[in-house]
Amino acid sequence: MSSTVEPVSGYPTIPKDPTAGPFNMASYDDLYQNFQWEDMAKALNLPRANGINKASICIDDHSPEVMQRTALLWQAADGKKESYTFDDLRRETNRFANVLTELGVKKGDRVFVYLDRIPEIFITLFGALKVGAVIGPLFSAFGPEAIRDRLEDSGAVLVVTSPELKERLDSIRGELPALQHVVIVDRKGSAVEPLHPHEVSYAAMMAKASDQFTVPYTDPDDFSIIHYTSGTTGKPKGAVHRHAAIIAQAATAKYILDLQPENDIYWCTADPGWVTGTSYGMFGPWALGATVLVYEGGFKAEDWYQLIQDYKVTVWYTAPTAIRMLMKAGEAVAKAYDFSSLRHLCSVGEPLNPEAVVWGHQVFGHVFHDTWWQTETGAMHICNYPCMDVKPGSMGKPFPGVVAGILDDEWNPLPAGEEGHLAVRPQAPSIFRNYWKRDEVYQSRFKNGWYITGDRARMDADGYYWFIGRADDVINTAGHLVGPFEVESALIEHPAVAEAGVIGKPDPERLEIVKAFISLKAGFEPSETLKQEIKNFVRTRLAAHAYPREIDFLPSLPKTRSGKIMRRLLKARELGLPEGDTSTLED
Ligand code: PRX
Repeated sequence: MSSTVEPVSGYPTIPKDPTAGPFNMASYDDLYQNFQWEDMAKALNLPRANGINKASICIDDHSPEVMQRTALLWQAADGKKESYTFDDLRRETNRFANVLTELGVKKGDRVFVYLDRIPEIFITLFGALKVGAVIGPLFSAFGPEAIRDRLEDSGAVLVVTSPELKERLDSIRGELPALQHVVIVDRKGSAVEPLHPHEVSYAAMMAKASDQFTVPYTDPDDFSIIHYTSGTTGKPKGAVHRHAAIIAQAATAKYILDLQPENDIYWCTADPGWVTGTSYGMFGPWALGATVLVYEGGFKAEDWYQLIQDYKVTVWYTAPTAIRMLMKAGEAVAKAYDFSSLRHLCSVGEPLNPEAVVWGHQVFGHVFHDTWWQTETGAMHICNYPCMDVKPGSMGKPFPGVVAGILDDEWNPLPAGEEGHLAVRPQAPSIFRNYWKRDEVYQSRFKNGWYITGDRARMDADGYYWFIGRADDVINTAGHLVGPFEVESALIEHPAVAEAGVIGKPDPERLEIVKAFISLKAGFEPSETLKQEIKNFVRTRLAAHAYPREIDFLPSLPKTRSGKIMRRLLKARELGLPEGDTSTLED
């Protein structure tokens, strides 16, 4: 693949990885020309007599040999280890499907799982898919307000949680009239007996449940999963996906993650609370029959390196902030470990800076392949492939079967080299089918037959895409999208806060941090103590990643004449940029 233009980042192109596996695309262009999603479905033997159920495909329907393969290698934060074959998961998920049936959960009901990264996350999510429920994973770092917004909006009938996380749920329980059952997974034996009348013990119910379950017919268009995602305005919206999304998740796991299930130990560092942790932490790899490593603990360079060494991880999917944090820990730390098992590395969630690509190449001997996609696209859309030369800093090229474009403000395609709105034709089986109960917002994301992603980008003359930034006010902090409105709403619930405006401030490690500008109510004085108190208030109510790491107190906030806080102006002033059009600013 020859380069006709200089790489935009200024870093030389890195030739394709010679260790790319036999599944890789012999020729990207050839596959791009001839690709049919139907062929991918056929390769997965889809649809089947019982339609397309993600749980059947991922857990039950493998060959007898694969059923005996390890599906899940799990390491707890305290070092304890467990492992489950596909057949173990088949029996456990059948049991949980029977538990749900006994509790009256029906097809289409919303079942949410609010747990730390423990094996029961996977057992309960897939058990729920087996009964036809629409699953909703909740990140365990969410506070009461974040979980209330999601459970209330989705009308969840059942939540699986732990005694430790249940306290946060208890505080908002009265605001959730649709919620009928809370299933308690008590690994540590810390549940307070007796349980409330609406609570049931996971262990007790599972012990009585049969491990036989027949998955009912599931239409390809039936909803499978809701992931809540943040926008500029309003509360998070539930992007809904259908069972047929598995076709795209499996195809991309095969061609982009390059998974060779009989050999690979694959580690996805994302939590199943986020789309990466479901599409590629479970769906794509398990549809192929690959072994997945899940680590309960958080980030620490030494722990992560130890895991790669101990489990002989071969394929690793992580995120730019984590890579930058590993860079910060230094090469001396990295040198103490054996990374010879690694053969393919991928990254997602934020722009992957070229320095990180080059550093990864030096330290691990392989290039981090950047992949671009969103909660809404459900699967990778613009990526670097094992068979491709990597231009450090570029997101790569559209996946075969995906048509991408750069559009002007009238939603017409722009030529190569020009910056515009990044859009894709909504044709991959994984593209979202709605925002839960927000059809008008969903419809507003489509223009001229394109799905408008909300990102701005540019395509070069070789067809490589380069990320430029968001077209809206959504903040990307360490790969997590945060809506300024959500943070502002949490801030103004604090008794001292009169008004709040929230922006993303560029940060060398986390890409952006959440910064809040606050005016105080009469009787409150700015102080460091008050700042800390407000930060903590948001951190415990909303989420640890969404609290404002910086707060400035202002006498009043710039507003339009209709009273809307001008975040754009706050950001321009913070960054020392021109203030632009201020004609709508109130006097
Ligand atoms: O702005 C883009 C950024 O993350 C957004 C999607 O976030 P979310 O729906 O939470 O899904 C994250 C994981 C799929 C995008 O609109 N983003 C994602 N990947 C990249 C990226 N920005 C630059 N480069 C990427 N590779």
